[in-house]
Amino acid sequence: MTILDWKDKYRQQQPIALLTAYDATMAQLIESVEMDGILVGDSLRHTFYGDNTTVTMSLSDMIYHTKAVKNGAPKTLIISDMPFMTYNISVEETLRHATQLIQAGAHAVKCEVRSIHVPTIERLIQEGIPVMGHIGLQPQYIHETGGYTIKGASNNEKKELLDLAMRLSDIGAFAIVLEKVPIEVSKEITAAICCPTIGIGAGPHCSGHVLVTNDLLGLTPNFSPKFLKRYLNGRDLISDALRQFKSDIESRKFPTKDHGYSNETLQ
Ligand code: KIV
Repeated sequence: MTILDWKDKYRQQQPIALLTAYDATMAQLIESVEMDGILVGDSLRHTFYGDNTTVTMSLSDMIYHTKAVKNGAPKTLIISDMPFMTYNISVEETLRHATQLIQAGAHAVKCEVRSIHVPTIERLIQEGIPVMGHIGLQPQYIHETGGYTIKGASNNEKKELLDLAMRLSDIGAFAIVLEKVPIEVSKEITAAICCPTIGIGAGPHCSGHVLVTNDLLGLTPNFSPKFLKRYLNGRDLISDALRQFKSDIESRKFPTKDHGYSNETLQ
């Protein structure tokens, strides 16, 4: 799966499915079901590291996780998040940072774009680094916005989102994530631009959709936003297995001699 395959799917109006992964095991599973792409999202700061923000994500950690995902899913399109302030300071620094992610195995990078970043993003694209924009709710700017609330509800916000999406589409962003945007607004943006929109909490009209894999597998405690569909009760299933292991040890049911190596069978 490549960006060209995404373009084909978009032309044929086929929905694009994207999921997050941060390690080789999950990446392998996602590749085995032929997902359209893997996002090495900075959400890993929450789900993998247990932090309560993505603002603390470092480039070196993103590179580390990108390499792990690449090892697990060598044939899948990999998009890596550019962490907070790694694409903000100068064009040169942004190019260097994006290059490090590409060299770690990503095929493209994702940036939580504000209007001021558009010229830098354009330069990345001109240098041959595919960029996915991320607009709407932007968790990297939480200190400014103060909460994980819907974006685009007022006329002003809606206009800002539409303008930014059109600028990103015009400079050649290969896709745009719309996070927590009202259904009517994401529908209008999707109709107005020339690249796929990938929604999360943005309703059914986007060209494709992304979820955080840990959320859809039911692995994240105390997180039930309206937009999330859980496909598995992962925490309960895993807890049952862990409890069973402990109980087997305590009752000496595991390991049995079938799980060991005896001199008789080795000879
Ligand atoms: O970091 C992430 O996983 C993301 C998705 C929620 C789109 O940005």
